[in-house]
Amino acid sequence: MADTPQPEADENWWRGAVIYQVYPRSFADSNGDGTGDLAGVRSRLPYLAELGVNALWFCPWYPSPMADGGYDVADYRDVEPVFGTLAEAEKLISEALVLGIRTIIDIVPNHISAAHPWFREALAAGRGSAARERFWFRPGRGEHGELPPNNWPSQFGGPAWTRTTEPDGTPGDWFLNLFDSEQPDLNWNHPDVRAEHEDILRFWFDRGAGGVRIDSAAMVSKDPQLPDLPDPAAGADAVLAAHPYVDRDELHDIYRGWRRIADSYPGARILVGEVWLPDAERFARYLRPDEMHTAFNFDFLACPWEPARLRTSIDTTLAAHAPVSAPATWVLCNHDVTRTVTRYGRADTGFDFATKAFGIPTDLELGTRRARAAALLTLALPGSVYLYQGEELGLPEAEDIPLDKLQDPMYLRSAGTNPGRDGCRVPLPWSGTASPFGFSPAGAGAQPWLPQPADWASRTAEAQGADPDSMLSLYRAALRLRRAEAGLGDGSFGWLDSDPQVLAFRRSPEFLCVLNLGAEPAELPEHTEVLLASGPLADGRLPADTAVWLRG
Ligand code: NOJ
Repeated sequence: MADTPQPEADENWWRGAVIYQVYPRSFADSNGDGTGDLAGVRSRLPYLAELGVNALWFCPWYPSPMADGGYDVADYRDVEPVFGTLAEAEKLISEALVLGIRTIIDIVPNHISAAHPWFREALAAGRGSAARERFWFRPGRGEHGELPPNNWPSQFGGPAWTRTTEPDGTPGDWFLNLFDSEQPDLNWNHPDVRAEHEDILRFWFDRGAGGVRIDSAAMVSKDPQLPDLPDPAAGADAVLAAHPYVDRDELHDIYRGWRRIADSYPGARILVGEVWLPDAERFARYLRPDEMHTAFNFDFLACPWEPARLRTSIDTTLAAHAPVSAPATWVLCNHDVTRTVTRYGRADTGFDFATKAFGIPTDLELGTRRARAAALLTLALPGSVYLYQGEELGLPEAEDIPLDKLQDPMYLRSAGTNPGRDGCRVPLPWSGTASPFGFSPAGAGAQPWLPQPADWASRTAEAQGADPDSMLSLYRAALRLRRAEAGLGDGSFGWLDSDPQVLAFRRSPEFLCVLNLGAEPAELPEHTEVLLASGPLADGRLPADTAVWLRG
């Protein structure tokens, strides 16, 4: 696309970038249908520029039946009509670039939507057809093929297999879906699958995209024998070593191919992997210089609010990234996990999909204090940072959504036991004192696609922009300082001696960050100036659950 603006050639922009995650359905609704759209994002670009982010990562904006919030993609080269048009996406990418903001597109290689033409063709072509080779169709086990072909579970609960029905109405083969049954897994041993995705990357890079976020990146390759999962009794290491679909060696060749494509464009187009792996060294293999640029740091995201655990997570992260010379990423939440202020206000402050439940008691005041401190911690650590929309507003998880409004397959497939992820996906409150809080235009007929909590008036961007003590003001100030301080972003890091309840580190001779996770106020190290604090200091000491940036 000769006349499409392209990101400027700043080869290292991503090493210390602050990247803001947009969940398009819930960011801003311009046409009053209750669902966010690209025109809504375009109208809020000045807000994002004022916040001071370097890039936007968009959760999928493609045509989709929305069986999994858009991660069921029906066409990777277009835009979901409810969100807008391809021309609008192009405008959005260009307008953001004018403000110095790059756009990262979500690529979903593991599966497509059951509504995608490839899958429709495969179903119609029937058993043994070439069209089915792009997927994993297999006969069932049991006398009549009534049992799934193996014991793999869906990430959303139940088996990872769905049985087809033959044209004459009799039960047919099964197809693999590691997520929802509306998301058939692709067979990455098939040359069409690889060629198609490489072409999709070019399609978006041609339109000025600054990078791609790779969905479920460590699950894409499968052992073609599709063996049962190893017995858990063998131990976690043995299970992972022989795993038929997690972290398989063939993946690296796929991502090397993607990196060659990204590198053929000017301005450092980046690959960001969604790589959930317990082993930090295996994780870092994806970040070798000819593979992905960065990957989300889920160890840190899931880490409980405990000084020793946080210190270990930071040390492990930095130690794993150093040999591959990749910058770390620091992430507190996203569209899949419990919002930070809620999680940090609970007895169990870690995150685990397995422990999600309804009705967990939460102290939001405590959680908010900790989330403010966590914001200064993450923004001071070396590398890049991801902010999930609404994190800068300190939004809590919406926990009172009526059950009949929940849409997430994680809830729908859990027999009602798992609240799923809708609570962190509620439309943003922008202004005003009642729902839709400026999310939709005034007088719009439709309600937001997920109901907003009635008490969000004090959490709107408008209310918080006018309050110097708000979460939004804290984020704005921190991002301003982060841009001005040469020592922040990518660069050196060293721990300072401190009490075990305190995390204190130096980023440059002039910049220190101190976080107190203990119950008692802590002494501050020697400094000449307090640059920013997440809460008031107590007679020059740092109260519990408070962080501070200091001039050394
Ligand atoms: C990870 C995405 O973040 C999540 O939202 C989605 O459900 C799964 N991958 C499947 O695409």
